[in-house]
Amino acid sequence: MSAETESSAQPYDQGAWWRDAVVYQVYPRSFADANGDGEGDLPGVLSRLGHLADLGVDAIWLSPFYPSPLADGGYDVADYCDVDPRYGTLADFDALVAAAAAKNIKVIVDIVPNHCSAEHPWFRTALAAGPGSPERERFVFRDEPNNWQSVFGGPAWTRVPDGQWYLHLFDSGQPDWNWRHPDVVAMFERVLRFWLDRGVAGFRIDVANMLFKQDGLPDVVPGSQGGPLTPGHTSMPYEHQPELLDLYRSWRKILDSHPGDRGTAPACTAPACTAPACTTPACTVAEMWFGHPDQARPYMTGDGLAQLFGFGLMPTPWSAEEFRTVIDASHRLARETGGSIPWVLGNHDVPRMVTRFGVDQDLVRAPTPEVLLGRMDVDVELGTRRARAAALLLLALPGGAYIYQGDELGLPEHLAIADEARQDPMFERTLRTFIGRDGCRAPLPWSGTTPPYAFGAGDTWLPQPEDWAALTVAAQRGDPGSTLNLYRAALAIRRDHPALGDGDLTWLDTPPGVLAFARDPGFTLMVNFGAEPVPLAWHHDVLLASGPLDGDLLPPDTGVWLS
Ligand code: GLC
Repeated sequence: MSAETESSAQPYDQGAWWRDAVVYQVYPRSFADANGDGEGDLPGVLSRLGHLADLGVDAIWLSPFYPSPLADGGYDVADYCDVDPRYGTLADFDALVAAAAAKNIKVIVDIVPNHCSAEHPWFRTALAAGPGSPERERFVFRDEPNNWQSVFGGPAWTRVPDGQWYLHLFDSGQPDWNWRHPDVVAMFERVLRFWLDRGVAGFRIDVANMLFKQDGLPDVVPGSQGGPLTPGHTSMPYEHQPELLDLYRSWRKILDSHPGDRGTAPACTAPACTAPACTTPACTVAEMWFGHPDQARPYMTGDGLAQLFGFGLMPTPWSAEEFRTVIDASHRLARETGGSIPWVLGNHDVPRMVTRFGVDQDLVRAPTPEVLLGRMDVDVELGTRRARAAALLLLALPGGAYIYQGDELGLPEHLAIADEARQDPMFERTLRTFIGRDGCRAPLPWSGTTPPYAFGAGDTWLPQPEDWAALTVAAQRGDPGSTLNLYRAALAIRRDHPALGDGDLTWLDTPPGVLAFARDPGFTLMVNFGAEPVPLAWHHDVLLASGPLDGDLLPPDTGVWLS
């Protein structure tokens, strides 16, 4: 980091609400379907807010619900300032924000700035205007493509009938914006203000490391890797360009200066808060995979992004040592910078943790072609035990946490989707060598014993498994040992316990295969990743355990909160 960057850094607001918030990710298409068309919608979310309030989350993040041809499940946005009729109306959105605020739940929306939909009016105008037109300057059109590949597989360029090519780092239905064009910059500022005016508490920024492309669009050097930085890694020419830092600083200024009610926020402790008209700043949380802290550090200057997701645990196999390495790296980075890196164990892009932890862990370290096709033995019972222990770890770590919808129910990945029913563009774009991300997006089971489990009235846009009767919200609500009640209990304790939320941790000495840390005052977490029971650390009380304890022994694949 340069001296200039350092000197412009602002101290992070240590009291900001998002630093210890538990945010629940709603993937609207799969959450709850109020109008019976087989796809979830905003009135569906509103109708199930009680579930989220009972769970005890602080905020929800809504994946895109904007008008979209759904080439990539809504991450192909045709209009950034409206609601797709499938999902409802702007009035439904306003009603949801108001009802959530009444339950003390804030609403974060997804902003997708790297690309739009091929149906976006500006892209259609650009196509019609032809080569050399000012309209094409808002996108990345060229007479010749370079060698860039799409993140979803295949070339990152598609040819249009007049012979030019346009860049799309994802699906061909997702043309990349030209972020060096002032219209694009101004348009997204309007988009931020539009949603801030409607009372959102923040933005999740999609593929926040891309947006700007290196001048001249140089070819990718063969052998270089995108994504997480590893020693010897060269960033791709479409990642981490220096202009991103200034862009996020300018967004932060908009967010910080924009008056607005971010939910009712009665518990807001931000120094800037002037209740009763609370103007605590809105949050930005960046989707950015980083493998090495040096890759993330420049963004964590205090005056740009509020948060980067801590994704490191998602690809990590069930191993105390490997978990600890990831936790240490993220936590150290957060402490050094004063920044905030909320922990994540699942989202709509990765296989669900019950399944990840229920397979031979070498397959997590190095997925084989068979695994990419969903062909592997899964021990769901083992995976569930581990996922429950992991939930206690997630919610005991210092800082905020994100919970992906359905993880509170212990849902496994739905692997048995027929090829014809698959929707994720990655399936076809990888020439069917990777089944894609549909398996974690199956519609939620609410009650009943057969599909659609009260998700809606009829067939669902993606099939649900036949064996989810015991996993529905209704089935789990009354079962004290259910995963749902484990999450509810953990969140209730977390809300009141002075040691939990933001802060620090101290690792305790443990035998190999066991993780244990203390948090002040008077809290200890232990997780046994190993195969043998181990003695519980010194304690007065067992606050919560992810599975049965064996006297004073912590069984394998079990986590416990002690005081
Ligand atoms: C992000 C989203 C993912 C989407 C991609 C392209 O990674 O999480 O679902 O496909 O961006 O927008």
